[in-house]
Amino acid sequence: MALFTSSKIQTVSPAKRVQGEIQLPGDKSISHRLAVLGAIAEGPTEIHFFSPSADCASTLECLKALGVRVERHSDVVTLQGAGLEGLKQPPTALDAGNSGSTMRMLSGILAGQPFQSTLAGDASLSGRPMQRVIEPLAQMGARIGSKDGGLPPLDIQGGTLHAIRYELPVPSAQVKSAVLFAGLFVEGTTEVVEPSATRDHTEIALEQMGAKIGRHGRTIAVRGRAKLQGRKLYVPGDVSSAAFFIAAALLVENADLVIHHVGLNPTRTALLDLLVPMGARIKVTNAESLHGELLGDLRVESSKMRGGEIPEAAVPSLIDELPMLAVLGTQTEHGISFRGARELRVKESDRIAAVAENLRRTGAEVEEFPDGLRVAGRQKLRGAELDPHGDHRIAMAFAVAGLVAEGETVIRDSACVGISYPDFFKVLASISS
Ligand code: S3P
Repeated sequence: MALFTSSKIQTVSPAKRVQGEIQLPGDKSISHRLAVLGAIAEGPTEIHFFSPSADCASTLECLKALGVRVERHSDVVTLQGAGLEGLKQPPTALDAGNSGSTMRMLSGILAGQPFQSTLAGDASLSGRPMQRVIEPLAQMGARIGSKDGGLPPLDIQGGTLHAIRYELPVPSAQVKSAVLFAGLFVEGTTEVVEPSATRDHTEIALEQMGAKIGRHGRTIAVRGRAKLQGRKLYVPGDVSSAAFFIAAALLVENADLVIHHVGLNPTRTALLDLLVPMGARIKVTNAESLHGELLGDLRVESSKMRGGEIPEAAVPSLIDELPMLAVLGTQTEHGISFRGARELRVKESDRIAAVAENLRRTGAEVEEFPDGLRVAGRQKLRGAELDPHGDHRIAMAFAVAGLVAEGETVIRDSACVGISYPDFFKVLASISS
C-alpha cells in the first residue's frame, strides 16, 4: 500500500497482497479496567502491554488527578493503589476526552467517594447518553447532575451508597462495570442482571484482584468492601483492532496474515463466529489462558464469503465490529444486513449514518434503517474522499475499503485512529502492498 500522510489526511491505494506477522497493542477495554481497579487496590499494580490508545491515556490522567501515582514506561503502566478509601478530590473537572468507557466506568468509582467531582469530555462525548449510568447510581444513593436530560458533564456528589439489584435496560458492559465498581464501596452485595451477555473483562479483572464475585446465568454479584490486591497483569492484543486486519486479509486477493497474541475472550469473538461459517479462512492456534483471559494467534487468508443477515441476538457482541462488517459486506456474495443496532447511533459518531454516507461516496449501494444497514454484495468500490466524522473505527473500516477500491481513497482527519490505535496506518502499510 502506498501511503501519503499529513497530520490530517491519509491516502490509501489499492493492495495486491496482504502478508506478514503482526502483534497488536493491548486491548483497550481490558486496559481501562485494570487501571481503574489498580487505582483502588492495595499495593502496586503493574500492567504489561497497556493499550497505547488516547482513550486509555484519558483514564490514566483522570486517575492521576484523583491522587493516584501512575508511571508509564512504553507499554508498562504501574499504579500505586490508593485503596478503597484513598482517592482525593480532584482540583478541577476530570477530562474523559473522547472516551465513553472512561466517563461511565469512573462515574461508578466517583459515586462511592465522599467528595464532589465533575466528569467532562470532548464535543463527541458531550453528546453521548449518560442517563444509563446516572439511573442505577442514583438508585444506589449518589446525586448526579447532568445537562439536558443525561448529557455530560456529570456533576457527581458521592457518599454512602447502598447495594441494589439492577436489571440493565440495554446490554452495556460499561454500565454493568459502573454499577459493579460502585458496588465495591457499599456494605452488602450488589447485583446486575444483563438482558444478554456483554464483554466480561470487569468480572475477570475483579476476580484476578481478589474481589468476591458471583456469576449465575445473566446475574453478576459483587460483595462490597472487599479489599482488592494489586498485582502484575498482562493485557492480550486488542481483538477489536484486529478486526480491521482480519478484514483486510480476507478481502485482498493474495493474503496470508498471522496476528499474534490476540484476545479471544468468548464475549469478544462474535466476529469470528459470524465470519467462519460464511466462508472466512481464519484459524486459531496457540490458544492459552492468561490471568483469566483467553488469547491466541490468528491466521487469516483471502476468502470468498457468502454474507447474509446478522442475527439480532448477535448484535450487542458485534457492536464495535459492525462498521467494518458493513464495508466487508460489499465484497461478499449476498451482501450483509443487520437490524437492532440503534446503539450505533450514539457511539463516537452516528456510526449508521457515517458508514452509509462513506459507502455512498465510494459508489456503493446501501440502505439505511433507524437501527441498521443493508449493503448489497459483489460491489465495486471507487476511491473517494471520505470523512470519518472524528470516529476511529470509521476511519479504520474505510482504510480497509481503500485496499479493495479502484483508485485512491483519501481519509480526512485520519489522526482520529489514535483514539484506539495510533500506529494503525503504519502497521497497515507494513503488511499490504
Ligand atoms: C465497551 C463496551 C461497549 C463498546 C465500547 C467499549 C467496554 O460499549 O462499544 O467500545 O469497554 O465496556 P457499551 O457498554 O456502550 O455497549
